[in-house]
Amino acid sequence: MIKKLVVLSGAGISAESGVKTFRDSNGLWENHRIEDVASPEGFQRNPQMVLDFYNARRKQLQEVKPNEAHLLLAKLEEYFEVHIITQNVDDLHERGGSSRIIHLHGELKKARPIDSESETIVWENDLNLGDLNSKGVQLRPHIVWFGEMVPEMDQAVKIAETADIFLVIGTSMQVYPAASLIQFIPDHCEVFVIDPNLDQNFVAADHFLKTSATDGMRKLIEILLK
Ligand code: APR
Repeated sequence: MIKKLVVLSGAGISAESGVKTFRDSNGLWENHRIEDVASPEGFQRNPQMVLDFYNARRKQLQEVKPNEAHLLLAKLEEYFEVHIITQNVDDLHERGGSSRIIHLHGELKKARPIDSESETIVWENDLNLGDLNSKGVQLRPHIVWFGEMVPEMDQAVKIAETADIFLVIGTSMQVYPAASLIQFIPDHCEVFVIDPNLDQNFVAADHFLKTSATDGMRKLIEILLK
């Protein structure tokens, strides 16, 4: 019987691809306070600045590529039923070859009208004021901002509840409800954490690999496939 390996990933897995994390540079995300660019209030205050911020993030996707950690996660699909539950809005897990991916916090390459959280459309280029959907409603990035609902959480919990192995990789586990996912795993589930800085007792792990995502994934493969 093939085991289910569930992954909760965060910005740290994309760090070695050159994508900035949120909290490693004293709470600034690309020189912006997160609450100014990742909140409905910030969007209300200065919509074009927020749109420009995500336009820059989306454009950066064309310059970065999946790193070995993304690729090794895809390789594990040869041995396990792998489910990626990511807080990341980049498309590096997709481009790395993973096939089951839930984006808890949305996706840079999708847009949605400001009056709906479910009507998403693929959006690859810049998104600006005046870009409207077919009903004439202003579009916004399909990103879950602070204080907004996390529509995919229920599905993510159902998957975590049936995990045989749970991997936490590259997340500071400071943002909820995403960080609460580990509370839903079954008692028998084996927990691995890969993170160079996370405080050891912050997450109850069976195996704590205090190292980078790429080095940690190489070590994880050895442990899981021995
Ligand atoms: N390899 C692995 N982990 C790394 C690396 C690396 N090379 N570099 C940094 N990290 C770790 C840091 O130690 C930290 O624990 O990645 C984590 C990054 O944490 P955050 O910056 O808080 O990112 P994340 O946990 O994904 O943030 C969650 O917060 O801003 C919101 O919605 C946004 O999805 C985001 C959420």
